[in-house]
Amino acid sequence: MANGNDELYPVPTEIASRAHLDKAGYEAMYRRSIENPEAFWAEQAERFIHWFRPWDRVMDWDFKEPRIRWFEGAELNVSYNCIDRHLETRGDKTAIIWEGDEPGDTRRFSYRELHEAVCRLANGLRARGVRRGDRVCIYMPMVPEAAIAMLACTRIGAIHSVVFGGFSPHALRDRILDADCKLVITADQGVRGGKIVPLKENTDKAVTECPGVETVVVLRRTGAEVPSSPDRDIDYHELVEDMEPHCEAEPMDAEDPLFILYTSGSTGKPKGVLHSTGGYILQAAMTHHYVFDYHEEDIYWCTADVGWVTGHSYIVYGPLANGATTLMFEGVPTYPDASRHWDIVDRHQVNIYYTAPTAIRALMRAGNEPVQQYSRKSLRILGTVGEPINPEAWNWYHQVVGDGRCPVVDTWWQTETGAIMIAPLPGATDLKPGSATRPFFGVQPALMDADGRELEGEAAGNLVIKGSWPSQMRTVYGDHERFAQTYFSAYPGLYFTGDGARRDADGYWWITGRVDDVLNISGHRLGTAEVESALVLHPAVAEAAVVGYPHDVKGQGIYAYVTLMAGKEGSDELSDELMDLVRDEIGAIARPDIIQWAPGLPKTRSGKIMRRILRKIAADELDTLGDTSTLADPGVVDNLIDNRIKPD
Ligand code: WT7
Repeated sequence: MANGNDELYPVPTEIASRAHLDKAGYEAMYRRSIENPEAFWAEQAERFIHWFRPWDRVMDWDFKEPRIRWFEGAELNVSYNCIDRHLETRGDKTAIIWEGDEPGDTRRFSYRELHEAVCRLANGLRARGVRRGDRVCIYMPMVPEAAIAMLACTRIGAIHSVVFGGFSPHALRDRILDADCKLVITADQGVRGGKIVPLKENTDKAVTECPGVETVVVLRRTGAEVPSSPDRDIDYHELVEDMEPHCEAEPMDAEDPLFILYTSGSTGKPKGVLHSTGGYILQAAMTHHYVFDYHEEDIYWCTADVGWVTGHSYIVYGPLANGATTLMFEGVPTYPDASRHWDIVDRHQVNIYYTAPTAIRALMRAGNEPVQQYSRKSLRILGTVGEPINPEAWNWYHQVVGDGRCPVVDTWWQTETGAIMIAPLPGATDLKPGSATRPFFGVQPALMDADGRELEGEAAGNLVIKGSWPSQMRTVYGDHERFAQTYFSAYPGLYFTGDGARRDADGYWWITGRVDDVLNISGHRLGTAEVESALVLHPAVAEAAVVGYPHDVKGQGIYAYVTLMAGKEGSDELSDELMDLVRDEIGAIARPDIIQWAPGLPKTRSGKIMRRILRKIAADELDTLGDTSTLADPGVVDNLIDNRIKPD
């Protein structure tokens, strides 16, 4: 990872010969993007996006306030950019290939069909009273209708908030309430890896406590009997069936909000990351074009879920803005078996495949045979995102999945950045396993030390970004102060990412992981505070402290230290009960892997829990525990060490 090897994989000649950019091209374009950002972004905006009205000013930002605006005064519509403008030349081209949970269960939407489906739903939403600026929650399985719902919202200027289908009713309720959504789009049930996800049942539980929700639109996915409230619920197909297949795309201001997406922070409740229209769609489209070296005839597959930002930018918005064929997969990599992804690659002739290190590690465990049963000849570019990729997984991905032919683009970015920020370009960047390599156009990463000094040259420190980029989040929905605090207070005038990083002698970037209390479980972000809050809901629990520890497949696992109320006794049953409680409160991804009973937690004299020590114990790094002399009661550490639980 941070100390990954510096082995260099040069750009393969077959890739270089057809790529959009070579080394010199990247360098020249990058230089221009930094030296003359206004001219650079104006050119790109004209090239990648259709505007109904040009902008008055390319950019206007000040991280001190903070205030961020791009293409102010311009008008556009994202749904128009993703669909309508392609109709003339790509009307019959496949926009979405859908592969269901069961192998071979496939649906296709041409751009023309997508247009019709989106228009009908957009009209349906209007018929149910949704207006420009209203918030719509999308709690869906990975079906084409999830993308259609997103596009229908953008068509009429409604702001969508997609909530991952794996989240619990409580998590869903909190997100609906925070964004004050008036309509929810869901399905009767989802299907993943042969298992049923009770989406409607969860929605019913959530919306009983959401008085602002007027309508619940229910897509029939499995056709199961699910309860319905006739005044509130409407069947998706009944809603769209009588609607006109045409719906004018609403001209939106470049700075109008496009969507809210909740993500975890180091403290308290998840924050609603707000993205706006013009800058977001520009950078989503442009990064999709350059980082994946996308060409018109490519079949492109990103394995993420639309519930995460990767699904927003690289299943739906980036690819469709470029008129691409994007594949959507409902299932999981290991169902029915570990060869599923390669079966899909061969059947749909996938050229570009974008996944997460956790999936790569899980598939690597299953051995080479499931991969080698399939030809994978169509593959040209491989991508990864979500967490640092260990060189071993990188090499397996490159050698076994890509037969050593396909560049691996390791893409670093965040929900907050909206689009890829640091990544190689296939035709321009020599690769180093484990490094996200070089910044994208217009992006200026820098390293800071703990005292707020910038580090030059080869160095390791906290990763910040100097200056704004078009797809930067604009605020935390309803809490601009939290936006200012979280991202702009640690280093005034700079955007703080929350990540640590290293820059090597060649100027390559190596992301080392979060430096705050954010966990990265299988590429999913989770705040330690969220898990702790769930644990202390149990009447037997007095206090809890949660840390991450290295996990072979998930990247990080969840290790919880729990102090029980006086007189309560720890047991396997109670441990299971607590794990299930967290799952029910947040979702399955948050279920702790390990619970250790802690008679006391290491605290400073002022009462602050010293997580550094807890992390060391969980990771079994006892020789680097560090100074424990400032603890109120150093003895608690010995007890925790003696009773520590090693992962199996
Ligand atoms: C955090 C953001 C961006 C989409 C997926 C996650 C980690 C992401 C990489 C990478 C090392 C990475 C960072 C970042 N991360 N990509 N290529 N190498 N770390 O989005 O849930 O907002 O999480 O994921 O720690 O801060 P997210």
